[in-house]
Amino acid sequence: MSEANEHYGRGKLIVFGEHAVVYGQRAVACSLPEGARASLRRSASPQWSITHPGGTLEIDEYVRRALQAIFDTFDLSSAEHTVDAELTIPVGAGLGSSAALAVAVARAAADIVGIDDDTARGRIDEAVAASEAVFHGTASGIDQTAAMGAGFFAYSKSHGWPEISSLDVPEHRWIIARVAPSASTARMVKSVADLHRRRPEWIDPLFERFDAIARAGCEALEAGRWRDVGTLMNLNHGLLNAIGVSTPALEAACHTARDAGANGAKLTGAGGGGCIIALADDEHGPDVEAALAEEGDVYSFTLPPTD
Ligand code: PMV
Repeated sequence: MSEANEHYGRGKLIVFGEHAVVYGQRAVACSLPEGARASLRRSASPQWSITHPGGTLEIDEYVRRALQAIFDTFDLSSAEHTVDAELTIPVGAGLGSSAALAVAVARAAADIVGIDDDTARGRIDEAVAASEAVFHGTASGIDQTAAMGAGFFAYSKSHGWPEISSLDVPEHRWIIARVAPSASTARMVKSVADLHRRRPEWIDPLFERFDAIARAGCEALEAGRWRDVGTLMNLNHGLLNAIGVSTPALEAACHTARDAGANGAKLTGAGGGGCIIALADDEHGPDVEAALAEEGDVYSFTLPPTD
């Protein structure tokens, strides 16, 4: 019961529909092969240690509250358990590190209290939602879904509960460039909420376009029509810019990727900084990666993950 057991959560890429998904529209995302590992063990002198590719995560008030929410859901005392966690994706870059960590810790917590698999899923969902609320404010739940699962999926929450359908997408290399420090997701979600509250009659039609792009994106992805996927990414990025979540650095990186031959590029996640994703064919992929490397850290993944 008090043995250390390692558990996993995955990072994610949002390919289409971030922000509009908070308003019930469709989004498309894919789990990453990387994310977070965590183990929990009972300890008389508990310590919480979370490493990430850039060093050690400061256990600030937010991290503490987010982890506490998981302990509370499982009726575990945070004062009696050591947490050892490792993030293998960059933190705060729009790649879902907080959900990946929350899922890994929640799975470890379910394991340590020894609840059966049927009960575990509901409790893990509940714990991760409570944890994600600390970082996201009004979270759509898309990160959480990606962190628990594998592969591409379409996601919407139009009737208050998630509708998730997995997508059968051929393998392809996806390029990610982190070109600026990230903004807080909660702050970016709030800035869109403020805009929407002020002029819903202007913003709702844009959200409907996000949805149409995500729906067309599902078909293009499943058919492996990569040129169309790229064009739809460019359109989606234009809408994200229109609602005010792009930045000069994100704009520059999208143009760099497209100029180097990418089929398409867009910001991914909450925006205000962070990452762009780009899609290129085999011939142009190395050029796109080299051009983006001049502007930030570049990662590439073959998606969907195969394990
Ligand atoms: O900042 P990220 O990568 O966790 O992305 C947030 C995605 C939003 O649509 C902006 C918010 C949400 O909860 O869906």
